[in-house]
Amino acid sequence: MAQEYSSRRSVLAVPGSSPRFLAKARGLAADEVFFDLEDAVAPAAKAQARQNVIAALNEGGWDGRVVAVRINDAGTRWAYRDVAEVVTAAGHGLAAIVLPKVTDPAHIAWLDVTLSQIEQDTGGEVGRIGIEAQIEDARGLANVDAIAAASPRLRALVFGPADFMASLGMRSLQVGAQPAGYAGSDAYHYPLLRILVAARSQGLAAIDGPYLAIGDLAGLRTAAVSAAALGYDGKWVLHPGQIDVVNEAFSPSQDDYERAELILDAYEYYTTVEHRGAVMLGDEMIDEASRKLAMVAAAKGRAAGLTRSLRFEPPVSTGRPPGQPTSAHVSRAHPTR
Ligand code: GLV
Ligand code: MG
Repeated sequence: MAQEYSSRRSVLAVPGSSPRFLAKARGLAADEVFFDLEDAVAPAAKAQARQNVIAALNEGGWDGRVVAVRINDAGTRWAYRDVAEVVTAAGHGLAAIVLPKVTDPAHIAWLDVTLSQIEQDTGGEVGRIGIEAQIEDARGLANVDAIAAASPRLRALVFGPADFMASLGMRSLQVGAQPAGYAGSDAYHYPLLRILVAARSQGLAAIDGPYLAIGDLAGLRTAAVSAAALGYDGKWVLHPGQIDVVNEAFSPSQDDYERAELILDAYEYYTTVEHRGAVMLGDEMIDEASRKLAMVAAAKGRAAGLTRSLRFEPPVSTGRPPGQPTSAHVSRAHPTR
C-alpha cells in the first residue's frame, strides 16, 4: 500500500443530529469515527446537524483516530453546503470526507475540486483531506474501477449493503446478514470481492458496511471475520457494543503478527547479507511474495497496537559465498525470545 497504513478496523457512524452521541463517541475505541450528515439525519435536521458536526470537530479530543464526515450524496441539494460549511469551519480537524452513493467518477472529481478550492481559500494544505467512497448500488459497482482511480485523495472504498440490497432487489430486510432462502454460501461475496480488487488496484483500503442487527453479536462476528479473511481492512459499526467484536475480527492474531515481523526481518537479512532470494524460515519457504504478504499483516498488527516478543536471530555463518544460488539446502532461522 502506497500510503502509510491507517487502522480502520472499526468505523463508527455517529448521527450528526445528536450532540449526545457526538460527545459520547470521544470515549469509544473505534479506529475511525465519522459524523453522519446523510441517511441518519432527517431532511429538516440537516442544517443543524452541520453545526453540531462543526462544533464536535472544533472541540477536538479525537486524537489517534481517523475523523471523517459523511456528507450527502453528490446528487442532492445538501451536498455542496455540507462540504463548504464543514470544511471551511473545521477542515483542519478532518482526515476524510465519506461520499455516499458514488455511481460515477465525476462525483469524486466534483468533491476533489471543491475540496481544493476550500483548502486554498482557508490556507489548508491542498490535497490533504481524503475521500472514502461508498459503493452501494448497481451503477456504482459497475463503475467501481473508474471510481477507485478518480482522485489521489481516495483513501478507501466502502461497501454499503443496505442501499446495495435495495438497488439489486435482494429479498431481505436484514442488512449485512445472509438473505433467507439464498442457496449459495455468501450473497455478498461478489460485491465484496469486486470492491476489494478495485480498491487494491489503486492502493486503497477496503471497508465493509454495517450489520444492522445490533443485538446479534454472533452474526456480526461471522460477517466481520469473513470480510477480514477476504482481505478487508475493517467494517462499519453503528453502536458502541459492536466495536470490540469488529476490532478483534480485523486484528491479526498475535501469532500471525509475530510471524509476519519475523518474515520481514529474515527476508531483509537473507536478501541483503547473504544475497539470497528464497530461503526457509522454520519449515516454510519465504520469498518476495511472502514479504509482501508479511508487510500487510505487520502493518495491520502495528496499527492495531500489537507488540512483538520474538526476534529473528541470524544463523551462524554457512560459509557459502554471497550470491550463490540457493539449493534445497537452506539455512533455518531460529526465532528466539
Ligand atoms: C450504508 O450506507 C448502507 O447503505 O449500507
Ligand atoms: Mg447507504
